[in-house]
Amino acid sequence: MTESVEALRNYVHFLHEHDGVRQVRLTRTAQQGLQRLAAAVKALPESIPNKGGPDNLLSGRAQRAGGSREISTSSAPSVNEPPLEISGSSKVEQLRHLAERASVCVKCPHLAARRHNVVFGVGNPDAKLMFVGEAPGEDEDLKGEPFVGRAGQLLTKMILAMGLTREQVYIGNIVKCRPDVPEGTAGNRKPTKQEMETCVPYLRAQIEVIKPSAMVALGATAVEGLFGPVGTIGSLRGKFLEYRGIPLMPTYHPSYLLRNQSNTEKRKVWEDLLKIMEQLEMPISEKQRNFFLRT
Ligand code: URA
Repeated sequence: MTESVEALRNYVHFLHEHDGVRQVRLTRTAQQGLQRLAAAVKALPESIPNKGGPDNLLSGRAQRAGGSREISTSSAPSVNEPPLEISGSSKVEQLRHLAERASVCVKCPHLAARRHNVVFGVGNPDAKLMFVGEAPGEDEDLKGEPFVGRAGQLLTKMILAMGLTREQVYIGNIVKCRPDVPEGTAGNRKPTKQEMETCVPYLRAQIEVIKPSAMVALGATAVEGLFGPVGTIGSLRGKFLEYRGIPLMPTYHPSYLLRNQSNTEKRKVWEDLLKIMEQLEMPISEKQRNFFLRT
């Protein structure tokens, strides 16, 4: 055991504890190794099944639903993969074990090589409401917490407008590492189908532990990560879907609202959140009902 911990020191720096989870950073040796591995994997011919190798549980490809509104989770990405083992005697412990596992995950070597933090998730393990986003951006990667950049600040305002706090809900993403962009390039990119398939078992395990009473999927990628390519967010938003028996409301991603700041678009998202509040039997004031009604 001591030997394996010693060997690990060549590959990871232990940094600090965050929310009871030990954060680690890969050493340069490990990053270079992973970059070589990623390049070798990329060079493999397409016809070789399961390009990610034995650690990449991508065998059994998921069945995908067409554009139907009757969405079942059997259309979800990587649904045939074995679920992650959940261990621990309390929700806090179970989430900590999953977060520890994610913190050393290198199933996407190109993401593991570039990340500063694995952004596992944040919030209340007993949350009634869970928000699901796409993937961390630069701010989240640096802080190790989801939704802390501009879009995150807007999400926090939306949560407060519902009469809740970030500490009362749970916030997670489909993909836990920042999708890499070329060095020196600003902005973010959508995670690939393969990155989503590889990572979504962590989110699925988080949902299984937390057992929220309702969920909000923020944007098309969040919906796609859970259900597969089932439709545009414009056509899906405003109507409840069901994810493993849990009512799930798709709505626009807060970054969409940052780009489209009209009251009409804000009202659409707000109406989706009002439906969630009704679903959770939360009190709704007259003032809340009327938010963003004036155009
Ligand atoms: N956008 C997301 O989808 N998730 C984050 O954590 C941050 C921005």
